[in-house]
Amino acid sequence: MTQLTIPRPDDWHLHLRDGAMLEGIAPESARHFARAIIMPNLVPPVVTGAQAAAYRDRIRAVTGDGFTPLMTLYLTEDTDPADVVAAHRDGIITAVKLYPAGATTNSASGVRDFDRVRPVLEAMADAGIPLCCHGEVTDADIDIFDREAVFIDRVLDPIRRKTPGLRVVMEHITTADAVAYVQSQSQDLGATITTHHLVINRNHILVGGIKPHYYCLPVAKRESHRLALVQAATSGDARFFLGTDSAPHSDDAKENACGCAGCFTATNTMSILAHVFEAAGALDKLDAFASRNGPGFYRLPVNEGTLTLEKFDTPVAYPAKIDTGAGPVTVFDPGFPLHWRVV
Ligand code: DOR
Ligand code: ZN
Repeated sequence: MTQLTIPRPDDWHLHLRDGAMLEGIAPESARHFARAIIMPNLVPPVVTGAQAAAYRDRIRAVTGDGFTPLMTLYLTEDTDPADVVAAHRDGIITAVKLYPAGATTNSASGVRDFDRVRPVLEAMADAGIPLCCHGEVTDADIDIFDREAVFIDRVLDPIRRKTPGLRVVMEHITTADAVAYVQSQSQDLGATITTHHLVINRNHILVGGIKPHYYCLPVAKRESHRLALVQAATSGDARFFLGTDSAPHSDDAKENACGCAGCFTATNTMSILAHVFEAAGALDKLDAFASRNGPGFYRLPVNEGTLTLEKFDTPVAYPAKIDTGAGPVTVFDPGFPLHWRVV
């Protein structure tokens, strides 16, 4: 097959930032994706419906009408359940994002005591508002490579048992444990998988020198986990869908003694996915993963437009960096030549 046409894809987990960075990088997503779930971890975070509406308008001012930002609220211990329900009812937000405090970039305002957000979670279950989870514990005594698996046992499963009907997305899963947990549960639990976690394992970050552009959170795990993610993504199972977690940081923030977490994949995600799915003998499942399963979980229509990928014999070119008013941002390098290009 040298051409593949799928319904226009969506990105169910995206960081667009604000200001000059937003202006520089949002077109990279809007070029290929119709909609995206927009992460609220700005500084300060997007915590009220009014802030989400204002941020949505700033995004639209950059991307124009061809791209629909689906907004989220950043859950804090002070979040007002009534504000969440009203913002959802008014069509301002699509979901709420849970960051355990300290888990990742700009998560200091996240949740420490999960009992304190119970009223919000119950209101969300009643109103059918999905909860997007950054699934890592932050305990100092838990090894960083174990933090996702421990989160499932200690936090996620207890929350879901206590809140029947709550619809949850485990964001950017990185382990075979998370794949197995999602597979063992009902349709109320979905999971996003990033482009980069389908490509890299922890060796890519650490072997032969430290590679800051492969550092993200949750950190990539060993190869057996990557293979479980590829298996889940290419299986067609409706509970797994694309959330790139494309997370731009300027090069000086990445190439730093304390470098920021995040891989920027918006520019070449669709080319990389076509490569990964073809290598797995599952090109026919790319539309499920990138275009159908996400809308299914979020109860939204599949996009009417299409996106066509074409395979070339010679490698296709893509920019190594995107220049933004907030500095250059390095585009994720999958480490192999890409032959599929969006037409
Ligand atoms: O690698 C990451 N980058 N993981 C996250 O959870 C946050 C993100 C960011 O905002 O930079
Ligand atoms: Zn993220």
